[in-house]
Amino acid sequence: MTEALATLYRVVYEEVLSRLPEPTAIAVGQTALRLLPLDRLPAFRLEDRRLAVTLGGVRLPNPIILAAMYYDTRILARAMGLGFGAVTAKSITLNPRPGHPLPNLVRVRTPAGPGLVNCNGFANPGLEAFRGALARVSHRVPLIVSVAGESVADYVTLTRELGVFGDLVEVNISSPNTKLVYAWSERPQELGALLAAVRAATSKPVIVKISPDFADANERHIIPAALDAGIRLVNYGNTRRIEEPRLSQRVGGLSGPEIFAATLDNVRRTRRTFGDRLQLIATGGVDTPEKALRMLDAGATAVSYFTGFITRGPILARRILDALLARL
Ligand SMILES: Cc1cc2nc3c(=O)[nH]c(=O)nc-3n(C[C@H](O)[C@H](O)[C@H](O)COP(=O)(O)O)c2cc1C
Repeated sequence: MTEALATLYRVVYEEVLSRLPEPTAIAVGQTALRLLPLDRLPAFRLEDRRLAVTLGGVRLPNPIILAAMYYDTRILARAMGLGFGAVTAKSITLNPRPGHPLPNLVRVRTPAGPGLVNCNGFANPGLEAFRGALARVSHRVPLIVSVAGESVADYVTLTRELGVFGDLVEVNISSPNTKLVYAWSERPQELGALLAAVRAATSKPVIVKISPDFADANERHIIPAALDAGIRLVNYGNTRRIEEPRLSQRVGGLSGPEIFAATLDNVRRTRRTFGDRLQLIATGGVDTPEKALRMLDAGATAVSYFTGFITRGPILARRILDALLARL
């Protein structure tokens, strides 16, 4: 059944979705997610107590997480029934943002497989509207809220206000396509104050999501600053910044299998350097069960993905869970 659904999705993706202009494909995909009650079908899930992990003290029914991209709470609620052990909401800013003009997302065919490059620019409804919508979401699995700001005060307000509705809070200092958050990784010395202030603003576990573009600074400054601030959860990481002339901003963040090898290296090295002082979420390029297992074997506590959800479909989480269970 699982493999049949995977094959069916592959055909739909290759023959239909990937032939549509990107904005149309996004609209079709998101409408389907809102309308089709896929989360009621047991085929998309696998419940087994042996798969559970604890992240920052929060129990996840399994270590597979949907990475930050969606803010529509209907989609987030749906995703909670699609096999994930936790679901991450899109990074939210203090005020609503329209995001960058189109084209802000393009498909790429890389040697490693199908990927995306985006310069989304944090299109999101802003704190007030999102808070209202979040209050109505029941947490079938833990919800990770994500915050993105320009100043320490932005991050503190967002963390305090959204932390109430999330089971964990993710601090985004790594999306490459606005000056908004990426600049924090370019000023690692100032990060300590930011991370300490965020840590103090919520009682929930805090995750810092870092960029693969700053491997050296991550190891020397950013992760040590997080540990000093009492933050023990690291999401490694975000998209890789590349030039892409088709995008309105001419640069964007590459996601998908082309960044898998670097993510794996980053996870392995970080685990070796910091040992069990931190818990690691591995994000970047996972689009097969085998890649998810390799991340866990390299020292990840949990694995998250977004592009694989699009290119391999909602059945991917279940396929990973089957593989995990098979080797227990
Ligand atoms: C269109 C799009 C929007 C994204 N928005 C966010 C975001 O708001 N916050 C964030 O931390 N990461 C965001 N990401 C990055 C993903 O969460 C993830 O870190 C990245 O895509 C690498 O994982 P993947 O190769 O599995 O997609 C976005 C990615 C895409 C493609």
